[in-house]
Amino acid sequence: MSFCILGTGSALPSRIITNDDLSQMVDTSDEWIRTRTGITERRVCTTETITDLAFQAAQKALADSGSSADELDLIICATISADYATPSMACTLQMQLGATCPAFDLNAACTGFIYALDVAAGYFSRRPDQKILVVAAEAMSRLVDWQDRGTCVLFGDGAGAAVLGKGEDLLAIQIGAKGNITSLYAPNGWGNSPFRSETMAKSYLHMDGQEVFRFAVTSMVQTVEQVLAEANLTKEDIAYLIPHQANIRILDSAVNRLNLPQEKCLTNIAKRGNTSAACVAILLDEANQTGKFKKGDLLAMTAFGGGLTTGACILRWSK
Ligand code: UT7
Repeated sequence: MSFCILGTGSALPSRIITNDDLSQMVDTSDEWIRTRTGITERRVCTTETITDLAFQAAQKALADSGSSADELDLIICATISADYATPSMACTLQMQLGATCPAFDLNAACTGFIYALDVAAGYFSRRPDQKILVVAAEAMSRLVDWQDRGTCVLFGDGAGAAVLGKGEDLLAIQIGAKGNITSLYAPNGWGNSPFRSETMAKSYLHMDGQEVFRFAVTSMVQTVEQVLAEANLTKEDIAYLIPHQANIRILDSAVNRLNLPQEKCLTNIAKRGNTSAACVAILLDEANQTGKFKKGDLLAMTAFGGGLTTGACILRWSK
């Protein structure tokens, strides 16, 4: 039922959008965004497709793991903002990588990377000796309303990837969902169907910020406590918390309630904003590439998102 992480990678668009840039577009300020969210800048796709970024992240993860694409047995992409409704991002990526394995996308909003790890664990339980590529990639700039200051200041684009192989490092994992279509949603359009009579809400991301904020803090604390209990561990055993990056105030509250030292909580929200499913995967890769982890470290990951979905896991770092 388990696996180990063989390698990680991430990729970002080149265009940086600062808070000052946004204050030229909507009624906001650097001061408001920094103090209310912890974000100072984010990356936004201009010429890149989100599949381009997924591809770059996947190539880096393969290189970091010492694997080649033809060794892959499965590709899972977590995304809510793929370039195509069909083919899936995973199939497009499979083609670009030159892999031949099955490939599919998974939608669990910001919890997508943790959902994908759980699905991968199921495949490892059927056949432990395989390699699975998990990619979380989001072009949130495609989904937000750039005239809504309540949402456009929060999100960014990016991709993170991990190659998983045979191992026993996933010590506990839990995913959850609490059906809710009002707190955080982005409707699909109806194309040009002549049969559709009702007018639909605009196909942008809509969010009740305060409601999601409350849900976020509670769910992050609960899910981390649940996976610690499942793994028979205590919070003192955690080397690093790798949380979804939605708002620095959410992270501070969750860390306080979990009674964890602040320095154990990894964050890159200041420079990346909220990249939805990609947050945890990018943060994991950035910590790996900067040599933050040592062999044997226990990592707690936690995320929440539209759905409303939740997820958390405990992973031993053995790379
Ligand atoms: O992964 C996706 C999940 N999403 C989240 O986790 C988001 C969770 N929620 C949040 O992070 C926060 O609720 C927000 C950052 C979205 C909002 O922060 P807040 O402290 O909850 O602000 P608020 O919604 O209570 O708004 C306070 C004021 C309002 O003005 P009034 O009514 O007091 O005059 C807003 O209109 O701030 C105003 N406001 C802004 N002002 C300047 C909202 N957005 C902005 C803005 N710039 N960008």
